[in-house]
Amino acid sequence: MTGKTRRSVCIAIDGPAGAGKSTVAREVARTLGYTYIDTGAMYRALTYKALASGLDVGDAPAITSLARSLDISLKPDSNGSVRVFVDGIDVTREVRSPEVNMMVSPVAAIPEVRALMVEKQRAMATAGGVVMEGRDITTVVIPDAEVKVYLDASPEERARRRVRELRSSGYAVSVDETLEEIKNRDAIDSQRECSPLTKGEDAFVLDTTGMPVESVVAHVVGLARKAQEMRCTTT
Ligand code: CDP
Repeated sequence: MTGKTRRSVCIAIDGPAGAGKSTVAREVARTLGYTYIDTGAMYRALTYKALASGLDVGDAPAITSLARSLDISLKPDSNGSVRVFVDGIDVTREVRSPEVNMMVSPVAAIPEVRALMVEKQRAMATAGGVVMEGRDITTVVIPDAEVKVYLDASPEERARRRVRELRSSGYAVSVDETLEEIKNRDAIDSQRECSPLTKGEDAFVLDTTGMPVESVVAHVVGLARKAQEMRCTTT
């Protein structure tokens, strides 16, 4: 009997803070039965630990040596989200604190830190069947991913989304301070020397301002299905 086998592909998603990458990536992964990988959580986990250890985030050698010694792991939970562990301790809530938000971009700009993280992220993507999101996934981590998407939205909309998320986790934040924080983070992320956030030439750009999450998810799933068809094997 002849049949077609759908091959797993890699889906890479980049974009600025609060563009909806996590929500979309998680839903796309759930729909396709793929693994969701939140690379920002890895930089956040390192930043959290650096702050908790009293390190100066400007001290690149100290942060790099901490990055080498830490065991950061991402584990799926029952609702499709990811739980973040540092040396076996669950820090899922802590890594999204306003303090980590303020300090994560300088930490992520350290080239040695990026080299370590990128190596781990590439290893996670080798088998395919992943939806990986971050800042340099389409350009540096898996530039040969079959599906590459750049998610964007206006800064004001991104700030509103982030405020909703932070407030629902119990953090009292204002829209103005959050807007300031994400603009500041976007500037550092897109101006750093090592693998800055950019729209890769061949990434599909989706402006999600005013777009319901379901439409964005449907769009990305559509791109993934096409890519799967192109890679499908006849048996
Ligand atoms: O959720 P949000 O978009 O606010 O941020 P995130 O994806 O959790 O990433 C937090 C920070 O980690 C970013 O602002 C970047 O500084 C850094 N990051 C990075 O440099 N490269 C990645 N692949 C992912 C995140």
